[in-house]
Amino acid sequence: MNDRIDTRLLSIPRLGFGTWRLSGAEGQASIESALSLGYRALDTAEMYGNEVEVGAGMKASGLPRGEIFLTSKVWWDHLGPGQIRAACEASLQRLGTDYLDLYLIHWPAPDMDLPRVMHDMLRLREDGLARAIGVANFPAGMLRHVVELGVPIAANQVEYHALLSQERLLKVTRPNGIVLTAYSPLGRGQLASDPRIQAIGARHGASAAQVALAWLLRQDGVAVIPKAARLETQRANLAALELAEKLTEADVAEIDALPKDQRYVNPEFSPDWAA
Ligand SMILES: NC(=O)c1ccc[n+]([C@@H]2O[C@H](COP(=O)([O-])OP(=O)(O)OC[C@H]3O[C@@H](n4cnc5c(N)ncnc54)[C@H](OP(=O)(O)O)[C@@H]3O)[C@@H](O)[C@H]2O)c1
Repeated sequence: MNDRIDTRLLSIPRLGFGTWRLSGAEGQASIESALSLGYRALDTAEMYGNEVEVGAGMKASGLPRGEIFLTSKVWWDHLGPGQIRAACEASLQRLGTDYLDLYLIHWPAPDMDLPRVMHDMLRLREDGLARAIGVANFPAGMLRHVVELGVPIAANQVEYHALLSQERLLKVTRPNGIVLTAYSPLGRGQLASDPRIQAIGARHGASAAQVALAWLLRQDGVAVIPKAARLETQRANLAALELAEKLTEADVAEIDALPKDQRYVNPEFSPDWAA
């Protein structure tokens, strides 16, 4: 399996590192250990309040900037005229870099002027602040609208794991060359102790968390960004790339058959997921 996903708009590591809730000196140490183990994609956001730590971790790693795929996001109350650019510039400053590999709208705003917002995002790409742009938490209908506007977006980052279906969305992302980035791929950690997934792991000497990640990693056009604070779990999650090659058709069918209606991230400003 290729460890990267290559599309017309970007080349992104299939397995990246989520940084939500990693902040302060401890958070920075986790980011540094992830990079030292071989993670080459970092996911942050202005809302996480940890861009300084992410930037410092990148610097401490000694890796050239070009080897790291860096994603950040603009919060949904910064989508007004002029605000997106200001938010992006502030993120770049905190991160200590002059470009992002991917810049995302973190959540759709209920009252946003989608064509204008997408146009403002596109300007960032044209001006070199972001190598690619995208969205997050966009349901299928809204994503189709973006495609119809002709705006070249590289990714839609949404909650996706073995207990939540994204079939409707994949029907829009795949034919349009848009990467679906699976956030909370471990169901905020819950899947790591699911006995049904543990039983599948036992057949491979693997943990439930590794099985849950491997199930996602083997899917076409899907990138995965688990968060893990500790070195051991960071390493275990990286090994899911190998497990993805070993899962059998029977294993996959068992995971496919699990209920797929469990959403762990659903704040009150969420869009209508069925839209
Ligand atoms: N765009 C959005 O709106 C959005 C929303 C949510 C998340 N995200 C992104 O997606 C990333 C991942 O999602 P998430 O942080 O919500 O949840 P997650 O990755 O599904 O789960 C993280 C939890 O799983 C635990 N864990 C990790 N690896 C494990 C393993 N091998 N065995 C057992 N437990 C393990 C972690 O423990 P410890 O860390 O305590 O060790 C943590 O409690 C975020 O960090 C963020 O970058 C984006």
